This record gives sequence, structure tokens and C-alpha cells, in this order.
Amino acid sequence: MACGDMVIKCASNRDRISQPVGAIAFEMESAGIFQSFAGIVIKGVCGYADSHKHKQWQDYAAGTAAAATKAVLEQFTPQDRPPAEPIDSANQTLQKPLYLVRHKAWVNFVGRDHCLNAIEHSLIREKGDTIQKCFVVYGIGGAGKTQVCLRFAELHRDKFLGVFEVDASTSVTIERDFAAIAEKIGCRATSDDGIDYLSTSQDRWLLIIDNVDLKEGSIRKYFPNTHRGCILMTTRNHRLAIPGTAGNYQLDSMDPEEGISLFLKEVHEYPNTQGNRLIASDIAKELGYLPLALAHAAVPIRHKRCRLEDYREYFQKKTSKS
Ligand SMILES: Nc1ncnc2c1ncn2[C@@H]1O[C@H](COP(=O)(O)OP(=O)(O)OP(=O)(O)O)[C@@H](O)[C@H]1O
Ligand SMILES: [Mg+2]
Repeated sequence: MACGDMVIKCASNRDRISQPVGAIAFEMESAGIFQSFAGIVIKGVCGYADSHKHKQWQDYAAGTAAAATKAVLEQFTPQDRPPAEPIDSANQTLQKPLYLVRHKAWVNFVGRDHCLNAIEHSLIREKGDTIQKCFVVYGIGGAGKTQVCLRFAELHRDKFLGVFEVDASTSVTIERDFAAIAEKIGCRATSDDGIDYLSTSQDRWLLIIDNVDLKEGSIRKYFPNTHRGCILMTTRNHRLAIPGTAGNYQLDSMDPEEGISLFLKEVHEYPNTQGNRLIASDIAKELGYLPLALAHAAVPIRHKRCRLEDYREYFQKKTSKS
């Protein structure tokens, strides 16, 4: 099912978008939801995404979806919740390592060694634990800030007893994620409990605070009050690099070699030969070596809608049409 933020009311648009990817329907209500949590969306059909679209069938579609949801839920037998991760409450310490990060670094992750080393140096190697260590990675959207943090967490998880992640896009997501930490360690599940645990815990932990969009003062109030843990924060806003007591890093476009490698990994089936790198280097340069742009640009080649060597022509045709 294709998902977006616009109603499709035109048959030719519908076919143009759906055919290349084999989408059988369009929907809007769950757009973006999978970035927050993995789930299934059950929808009823109320139109053909063409000029005949109207609201008459919406109630019927909603009823059908509700009935289908009930049938799906009936497939599950409720069970007692598994015991939460035990913590030794006297010492506020975890009994075993806990890795509470929802996503993995992208399988085609490449490079970013300079940034990863800077974080490692500041958060792990640098001695002196008397002030709280906070490292800020900042830069434009799509530069790869979240990916770098996920990669860092995977590479260094053995150095921390707990690794946690909070999506700081809004105060709602922040509170939800701190509450999830509290629930996982067996406290009551409020965001204050999560922050309290991190503040009083004797454990060495890493907390990723991703996508910070609040003012500096507003985000600081969520920082656990302790020097034991390390915070790794990402933001698009360079003004928010200030809380980085342990340092900050501006993540921009990739180096040319990194960008070319990323593009060739993403297109699949084109080996990393000198000839292919040469073709990829033109494309990567045109896209400013921005990881998100490179990952998107590789899709038509991966889906065999065009060949690597014909990509520029394909791209020009597409952009002149729109
Ligand atoms: N080092 C990397 N190797 C391979 N692909 C990458 C890398 N960094 C980023 N990407 C690609 O770019 C996409 C965007 O990266 P990411 O979400 O980390 O950007 P961001 O800087 O956090 O953006 P935003 O400000 O929107 O949160 C990823 O989903 C991935 O496809
Ligand atoms: Mg991000």
C-alpha cells in the first residue's frame, strides 16, 4: 500500500505512482507512523483514487476495517506480560545489559569514521567523569546524524550497561520514550520515572536523544541529573550544539569516496569496479554527496527502471517532466 500526505483523485496520477512499485492502494492516515513504531495498519477501501472519489463510502469502509481488526485481534491469545528487566532496586543498577534502541544502523552503512572517532574520543576515551558528558551531532536533514548514532551505539554497546534512545522530535515523543525506558526496567511507566532511573542509576549508560527540535532550555530539562551516563544528541539546529559539554560535530555531506560507495551499495548488482565508480561519481557529485539524496536516487536503478549508465538521462527526463 502506498502511503503519503495527499489525497489521490486522479486516475493517471494513481497509475503513474502505483505501477512502478506495484502498489495496490493508497492511504494517508498512517503516513509517517512506521518511523515511530512497527505495526500493521488495517484499512477499508472507499474509493478508486480517481475523479469519482467522494465521502459516501467512508463510513462503510471504516466499519469494514474495524470488523477486520477485530478478526485479527481474535487470532491472539492474551498472556501475562513477560517480567520486566530486573533491576537491583537497592543499588538502582541493572542486573544485565539492556539495549533499548528501536532501529539498527542501515545495512548499507558506509564511512563516517571521522565523526564516529570524535564521538568515541569524547564520550569513551576522554577521562574525567565529574560533569555530564553530552556530545551533539548537528547538520542538515538527511546528512546521516541518526545513522551515525545508531552505528556508534552498535559499535560500543559493550562499554555501557544500558543503551537507550529517545525521539526528541516533540515533547510527546520524548515523554513516551522515557516512559518506555521506565517500563522496561520495571519502574512505573511514566517519563519522570525513566528520567529518575537514569539520574540515580549507578550504571554507566548511553542515551541517544535524536531529532532535537526544542529550545536549548527545554531539552535540558530532560537531561538526567548525573555524571554517570553519556548523552549523544542530534539536531538540525546548530544553535543547539551548545549543550555539548563533551563536544559537537557538524555532519555535512559525505566525502566523495564515501558518497560513491554509498550509491553503489544502494543500487545493488553493480560491483565496485573503477568503471562503475566513475559513473557513480558524476551522479554523487550532482547530488552534493548528501546521503539521503544518494539513497533515494539509487531506487530506480535498484528497481531496474533504468541502468546505472543511463541514470543521468533518466533523471533529466524525470525532472524536466515535473
Ligand atoms: N553513513 C551512511 N551510510 C549509508 N547510508 C546512509 C548513511 N547515512 C545516512 N544514510 C542514508 O540517508 C538516510 C538519512 O539518514 P538519517 O536519517 O541518519 O539522516 P538525519 O541527518 O538523521 O536526518 P534528519 O535531520 O531528517 O533526522 C538514511 O535512511 C540512509 O538511507
Ligand atoms: Mg535523524
